[in-house]
Amino acid sequence: MVNNKYSKLLDNKIMATLFFEPSTRTRLSFESAMLRLGGKVIGFQTRDVSSVKKGESIADTVRTVENYSDIIVIRHPLEGVARMAAKFSSIPIINGGSGSAEHPTQALLDLFTIKEECGTIDGLNIGLCGDLKYGRTVHSLAYLFSNYNINLYFISPASLKMRFRITDWLRDKKMKFKETEKFKEILPILDILYMTRIQEERFLEPEEYEKVKDVYILTEKDLDNTKENFRLMHPLPRVGEISPDIDKSPKAVYFKQMKYGLYLRMALLALILKGNNFV
Ligand code: NCD
Repeated sequence: MVNNKYSKLLDNKIMATLFFEPSTRTRLSFESAMLRLGGKVIGFQTRDVSSVKKGESIADTVRTVENYSDIIVIRHPLEGVARMAAKFSSIPIINGGSGSAEHPTQALLDLFTIKEECGTIDGLNIGLCGDLKYGRTVHSLAYLFSNYNINLYFISPASLKMRFRITDWLRDKKMKFKETEKFKEILPILDILYMTRIQEERFLEPEEYEKVKDVYILTEKDLDNTKENFRLMHPLPRVGEISPDIDKSPKAVYFKQMKYGLYLRMALLALILKGNNFV
């Protein structure tokens, strides 16, 4: 349970959530964050209930919603839609997930989780594992990591390697990273393993998904080969890559991670709508 004393900080503000793709944590934690700060929430959860279904453009949707709210959170299956929405909007737009490209607020909450759990970010050995091609959370996280001194391990099947756009960026920033297909060998040296779901919905060919869907499955026994302070993270939803036996281990922090997401999004909304003066 989270503290149930509600603030009035944003009591004259309205947040619109425009979600054109499924979501549980991102949308609900943003909405809960706004409500907990005393604000109000409007929005839709699928394309089918908005006029986009009738053919309305994102530009016109944003031009409409900006009259009804003070801030917009948008999630869309196409890359770049949040950026485009921002061009047409006079109010702040938060990217709640743009196709397989980026998920910046998830990266912020992931970084916050690491800081809370490990007390530091610099000097850690961090593995990002699973779908590094289509997984938007790992893209945004890798960009954020480039501000720190981290030893990064990208663990994925050859067909789902981290995108060149990101590895090139990391090389330019002189960031240390290794790419590998095997995760069990490096498990003993990791401080953090960030598992991801293979993003079935992004695959063009179902057979390609079938080939890789079960490549990485972490079981309770695997934790025996990890450091005492090892932490296992996942942006969730998981579909089989982390065995539920692990949930009770103090090394599993994915449920805490999603709670940290609420706090992070409260801070973000307060910062954007109230500036630095909210404390
Ligand atoms: C992720 C997403 O939507 O990109 N989930 C989330 O926002 N917590 C990860 C995923 O769908 O696999």
